[in-house]
Amino acid sequence: MDASESPGVTEGVDALTLTTPGDGKVEKVPNGVEATEDDSDVVDPWNVASTNDEGIDYDKLIKRFGSSKIDEELIARFEKITGKPVHHFIRRGIFFSHRDFHTILTLKEQGKPFYLYTGRGPSSGSLHIGHLIPFYMAKWLQETFDVPLVIQLTDDEKSLWKDLKIEEAIKLAYENAKDIIAIGFDPEKTFIFNDLDFIGKCPAMYQNMIRIQKCVTFNQVKGIFGFGDSDIIGKISFPAVQAAPALSSTFPFIFTGKKPVHCLIPCAIDQDPYFRMTRDVAPRLGFPKCALIHSSFFPALQGAKSKMSASEQNSAVFLTDTPKQIKNKINKYAFSGGRATVEEHRKLGGNPDVDVAFQLLKFFLENDNKLEEVRVAYKNGDMLTGELKKLAIEAVSPIVEEHQKARKALTDETVAKYFEIRPLKFAN
Ligand code: TYM
Ligand code: TRP
Repeated sequence: MDASESPGVTEGVDALTLTTPGDGKVEKVPNGVEATEDDSDVVDPWNVASTNDEGIDYDKLIKRFGSSKIDEELIARFEKITGKPVHHFIRRGIFFSHRDFHTILTLKEQGKPFYLYTGRGPSSGSLHIGHLIPFYMAKWLQETFDVPLVIQLTDDEKSLWKDLKIEEAIKLAYENAKDIIAIGFDPEKTFIFNDLDFIGKCPAMYQNMIRIQKCVTFNQVKGIFGFGDSDIIGKISFPAVQAAPALSSTFPFIFTGKKPVHCLIPCAIDQDPYFRMTRDVAPRLGFPKCALIHSSFFPALQGAKSKMSASEQNSAVFLTDTPKQIKNKINKYAFSGGRATVEEHRKLGGNPDVDVAFQLLKFFLENDNKLEEVRVAYKNGDMLTGELKKLAIEAVSPIVEEHQKARKALTDETVAKYFEIRPLKFAN
C-alpha cells in the first residue's frame, strides 16, 4: 500500500483488490510497490508536491504506480510505424510513462481503429500554460494517427470539489472550451462535452456510469482516492463519470458499430488513479483496458516542489496574461538555478535542472540544437540567469499572444460545432 499516493487512506492493498461480481474472483489492481520511507513525493488528482528542488522523482513514480517507462525502444517503434519523428515532449521525456501504448501502435500497424480521450476540470476561467501540455499532445496524436478525439469538461467535478454553483461551473466549462478549441483541434474529428449538459442528453453515458458504479465499492475508491466517511456522496461516485468516456459505447453517435473501440488517454500523471480504476473495470464490462501516456508536470514558477496550478495566481502563466504580466511574473518569480553572484555564476555555472526559466524552454522551445546550446552555456556559466529568463519570456510570450488571437477569433457558432452531438470523421 502506498500512503503517499492518496493522503488520508487507511485501507491498503485490500482496498485496491476489486472483486469480480458474479464469479467471486478477485483481481488485483497493479498499484505498484510500496513507497520507501524517504519517498516524500505526493501525486494524486488533488496534490502534487515534492521536497526535492528537482521535483518529483518520476522513475520512482513509475514503480509506485506500476506503469511503464517510455523508453528508446518504444520511441523507435513509434517512429517506424508513423514514419515521422516523435513530438519533442516525448523526445525530451516530458511524456515519460505509459500503459499499453504498444497495443495502440499495433492497432495502428494493423489499420484498426482507436480514439483519443482527454479532459479538463474547469476550476478557473483561464487555463495556464501547463494545461497546454496534454492538449498539445492530444492534438499532435490526433494529427499523427488521424483518429477521433473526445474531450470531457468535468464541470460536475469542480462543482462538487470547489463549492462552485452549478451555473457557475457550466460557465467556466464554456470559457475553458474556448481555450481548448483555440489550440486548433480539427472540428470534424473532435467532440467536446461538459458533463452537466451532456450526460442528461446521452443515456448511453449514464448507463455506462451505472455499470461502472456497480463494479466499484466504497472501500475501493477510498483506497484509490482517499475519500472518507464524511465526504459528500457526489465525490465518492464521481470517478465513474471520468471513467465512462474511456468506454467507446458512451458515444453511440460516434462509434456506431457494436465492437468496442480502444481508447488512448494523454494526461498528466496526477490523473492516473482514475484510469487505474477504469482499467480494472473495463474488461469486466467487455471493453479493452484504456491505454495511457502520462506527462510530468510543468513546475510552479516558484520551483519544481509543486506543479503550476490555476488556484495559485503567482505560480502560473495564464493564457490570459499580457506580455507585460508574463515578463514580470517570470522575472520576479521563476525559480533560478543560478548562483548568488555573477562572479560565482561565471566560475561555477548554473543548474538548468532546477531552473524554471530553463524548464519553460524545455517545454516550449522546439529547436533541439538551440536548447542544448542554452543548457551548456548556462551550466558552464557563460549564460546568466537574466539572459536565460529573457529567452524564456521570448519563447512563452508569442505562444500566449497567438493563443489569445485564436481565441478572440472564435465565434459562438464555431464553438457550438464542437459540442454538437454528431458522428465524427475517421477512416475506419
Ligand atoms: P485538470 O483540469 O486538473 O487538468 C487538465 C489536464 O492538465 C494536466 N495538468 C498539467 N499538466 C502539466 N503540468 C501541469 N502543471 C498541469 N496541471 C494540470 C492534468 O493532468 C490534466 O491532464 N479531472 C480532470 C479532468 C478530466 C481528465 C479526463 C483529464 C476529465 N477526464 C481525462 C485527463 C484525461 C481534471 O480536473 O484535470
Ligand atoms: N487539482 C484540482 C485543482 O487544484 C482540484 C481537483 C479536485 C481535482 N478534484 C479533482 C483534480 C479531481 C482532478 C480530479 O484545481
